[in-house]
Amino acid sequence: MKERNVVKIAEGVYWVGVRDWNRKIFDALIPLPKGTSYNAYLVIGKSGKALIDTVNPGFEKDLEDKIRALANIEDIDYVVMNHAEPDHAGAIPYIMKVASRAKLVATARGAKMAQIYYRVPQERIKVVADNEAISLGDKTLRFIEAPMLHWPETMFTYLEEDGILFPCDFFGSHLAEGVYSDEVEDLLVHAKRYWGEIMMPFRTMAQKALEKIAKLNIKVIAPSHGPIHRRPELILDAYKRWAAGETKPKAAIVYVSMWSSTEAMVKQMAEALASEGVEVALHNLIVTDVGDLVEDLVDSRAIVLGAPTVLGGAHPLAIYAAYLFKALRPPTKFAAVLSSYGWGGGAVRQIQDMLKDLKVEVVDALEINGPPTDEDMKRVVDIGKALAKRIFEAGG
Ligand code: FEO
Repeated sequence: MKERNVVKIAEGVYWVGVRDWNRKIFDALIPLPKGTSYNAYLVIGKSGKALIDTVNPGFEKDLEDKIRALANIEDIDYVVMNHAEPDHAGAIPYIMKVASRAKLVATARGAKMAQIYYRVPQERIKVVADNEAISLGDKTLRFIEAPMLHWPETMFTYLEEDGILFPCDFFGSHLAEGVYSDEVEDLLVHAKRYWGEIMMPFRTMAQKALEKIAKLNIKVIAPSHGPIHRRPELILDAYKRWAAGETKPKAAIVYVSMWSSTEAMVKQMAEALASEGVEVALHNLIVTDVGDLVEDLVDSRAIVLGAPTVLGGAHPLAIYAAYLFKALRPPTKFAAVLSSYGWGGGAVRQIQDMLKDLKVEVVDALEINGPPTDEDMKRVVDIGKALAKRIFEAGG
């Protein structure tokens, strides 16, 4: 796809962001197979100019050049900081220095973060309250507090006259390619993966924000990662489902195996669930992409965790997975645990303890010694049938 330097998304409204094709990991945790973008937007009104969000450190000059292609950067009146995380706010010190008369616009919490992170002096910060607006003459920017999406200070900016919502991380996707989301074939896959990684732990706050923006006449959603939604219904509908915690008759089977015994059990479980009509996603923790796993957690009604005992406890990769479940708070309702040990058990008990925090019903657990016998495999099938029954009984 041909890269466009700046993109006009409405009269006087321009994408001036950058594409980070080479970024391969985010938060030192989540792989980015398709890079990402840091979207910033320039809004030029009859009596004022505003930059909405900035870019990741290292791209300051690119941002400056893009702004200069459209306007005098020195004339910018407002730099809107929807979110203080450095991928969007990291260029604030650079921009505030060049745009020397600009005020930084942020929530009260954002203002504190701007002082701590970016050393913006208090007198250059304009704190805005929920629903407060700034006029650029013929363009009005209204600010909507949206805490925890993705940090406590986050807000959305709504450009009233053009019906454009700038929600920063919300509605984003980690994709370097594509200007508009309808040009990207598998957009919802990337958006879902991103939801699972960034927004899923904050589903309640997401629902509140969706209610808040429901009354707006949104024509375009311009997030700060990935493509712009000029047909916003698709992403809005998906977000409503994900925020509500809708699940499918689906199980994410996540496992690690040392000598193939646990693996034999989880594969038998996969067959049993599939034969009962449950959609199955199998993830071997040795090779799986954590982003793919997280994407499957968004709508799985059940998790099956398979782990051998090693040195008296569950394999460390299974501990990692259980911790990830706890941190990301997927809407999963049921779980099962499968384990094989060589000379001493304990993995199942440890994993069950960890899953308590997830508030799932552990339908059953099986711990065996060594490779599974025919009888063991039959027990796995029985657990699979019981799990499938609970999955279908519970519904979405
Ligand atoms: Fe894209 Fe929370 O920063």
